Amino acid sequence: MKTIKSIDIIQPDDWHTHFREGDLLNLISKFSARVNNRCLVMPNLNTPITTSKLAKKYLKDIKNSLQNSRLSILIPCYLTNNLDLVDFEKSLIDNVFIGAKLYPSNVTTNSSFGISNIEEIFPALEILQKTNKHLLIHGEKIRENIDIFDREKYFIDEELSIIRRKFPDLKIVLEHVSSKYGADFVSQNKNIAGTITPQHMLLTKKDVFFDDQINPHHYCMPIVKDEKDLIALRNYACSGNNKFFLGTDSAPHDIIDKPPNLKSKPGIFSAPCSIELYTEIFDQENSLENLESFSSINGPNFYNLPVNKSKIRLINQKWTLEECSQSQNIKVKNFYGGNELNWKVVNLNK
Ligand code: NCD
Ligand code: ZN
Repeated sequence: MKTIKSIDIIQPDDWHTHFREGDLLNLISKFSARVNNRCLVMPNLNTPITTSKLAKKYLKDIKNSLQNSRLSILIPCYLTNNLDLVDFEKSLIDNVFIGAKLYPSNVTTNSSFGISNIEEIFPALEILQKTNKHLLIHGEKIRENIDIFDREKYFIDEELSIIRRKFPDLKIVLEHVSSKYGADFVSQNKNIAGTITPQHMLLTKKDVFFDDQINPHHYCMPIVKDEKDLIALRNYACSGNNKFFLGTDSAPHDIIDKPPNLKSKPGIFSAPCSIELYTEIFDQENSLENLESFSSINGPNFYNLPVNKSKIRLINQKWTLEECSQSQNIKVKNFYGGNELNWKVVNLNK
């Protein structure tokens, strides 16, 4: 059997990541800049990014944190039920916003300003469809009798299918697809694609829930699910299906906010090793030849943006990732921190 020692791929983009703000932003943005050409940075800050003014200020803060990196930043508008639609439309046309993000209310970190009745955002969706901009969705529905593992399915059946029918030409990205049900929906419907995180292809609920506590560093929304879901996600990603692409959902929280119980903030910080983990997954599935479509081609194609020109090289070499990333006031647990990884990035810039 031939062992591959290195692989060159077109430089990746991360189509779903969190950069946060303040000290956390200054600590973590460099990890995404180390491999990506573009990052689509989520707008769920403490004050959500809902206007062009807030987006421009955030972009400036991110650029300052990155110093001389050439990373390009794309920001979607956080949808609320009282958006200034004139500012929204102009910002889409001016490319201040790449599209808009739908957070159902209270499903995840800083989603309390999100949407509880989708009809309230139909005017905004109309504008997105008309301007040919994308709707990004956190696809989970919360209701008293909906099990945490079924939230994605309920969202698809009760909300997404309505949006799909009412706005057939709207380009939708179902973010961090976490279930076989969700991935099948993406593959079977038109004008919809999905991002897949490393954790949803590496973990199942057994890695999160223990007798009387949880592993907060494996706790994210949507929650990781069963073996059958993990296998379906791996199959879609690794088969080269062009409806699925890289979105890490790297979502750092200070370890103070990560107690080993359900009071923990959801989110897994994978930026220090995400491309290495994706490469490992594709290697395990004997599909390294499809890594580049997933990491670097399907995303820009779906967003109608050019594919990157430069390349990066990954070599098959063991290294150990530091347990945590930290600065004076903050400490974040790295996903796979303290573990050995099999792939390592060597930047090429061809
Ligand atoms: C994300 C965060 O912390 O901002 N958390 C998560 O568990 N994925 C938000 C999100 O994308 O849901
Ligand atoms: Zn996210």
